[in-house]
Amino acid sequence: MASEVEPRLSGATPLIRCVGLQKWYGAIQALKNVDLDVGYGEIIGLVGDNGAGKSTLIKILSGVHPQDEGTIEVEGRMVDITGPRFAMQLGIETIYQYTAMVPEMSIAQNFFIGREPLLWGRRGFGIVDRTRMRQEALDGLRGIELHLRGPDVPVKSLSGGQRQGVAIARAMHFRSKVLILDEPTNHLSVKETHKVLDHVVELKHQGVTSVFISHNLHHVHPISDRIVIMARGEKIADVARGDTSVEEMTRLIS
Ligand SMILES: Nc1ncnc2c1ncn2[C@@H]1O[C@H](COP(=O)(O)OP(=O)(O)OP(=O)(O)O)[C@@H](O)[C@H]1O
Ligand SMILES: [Mg+2]
Repeated sequence: MASEVEPRLSGATPLIRCVGLQKWYGAIQALKNVDLDVGYGEIIGLVGDNGAGKSTLIKILSGVHPQDEGTIEVEGRMVDITGPRFAMQLGIETIYQYTAMVPEMSIAQNFFIGREPLLWGRRGFGIVDRTRMRQEALDGLRGIELHLRGPDVPVKSLSGGQRQGVAIARAMHFRSKVLILDEPTNHLSVKETHKVLDHVVELKHQGVTSVFISHNLHHVHPISDRIVIMARGEKIADVARGDTSVEEMTRLIS
């Protein structure tokens, strides 16, 4: 099982390799020469103070923004992640900081956002196969205990934890290789938070890598294999979980 594999086999091609990433927003340099390897079947906790560059880094990996300098390889192949759809094709699925879903749309519609199966036609034009969407969403959600009423329910009627759960089920269903979660436990209850953390660990058991961003070090530390700390656009630490503690992480961040 993936969880029993040593996540960082030295010399092996990583799932994702970022080298020398730099990003400016006008005069603000949000990323300064960031190198990051993401291995197979590992959980990386990405932490750092507000404005450290965490979201910027993952937005580059998920195709929201291009980097200004530096390179990205996915499974040994140099890629230019030109947009979110291409990131998804590469197996990189992202759950964003605030909105993991479109609230007005149903669970089934959210499940397939950007990947709607068509009865006929081609991408961007045609008739969407709603029956298949409902059925596949139902199948996909079966693997995850969320107490949902059905696939036609609008996402706005779900709790925060249920929304994150749907997004995680979606990543599992589409066999994503890496799931990036940008503060997925913000605004969640203690119980919902633990469920999301459990799902991330469950994904790892299925061989799916997660990059987990959170300000709560007590959430990050227990589940991560590796902790990456950012400060003012730089990666300042990249350590195995066993080699650091919540106290040390807190000290490094501040
Ligand atoms: N779209 C943008 N336009 C201009 N500046 C931006 C933009 N997005 C981020 N920044 C700036 O880039 C820097 C890094 O921001 P980023 O969102 O990556 O930080 P973060 O580590 O995710 O912080 P937080 O923990 O608060 O979410 C900050 O100085 C921020 O103000
Ligand atoms: Mg952020």
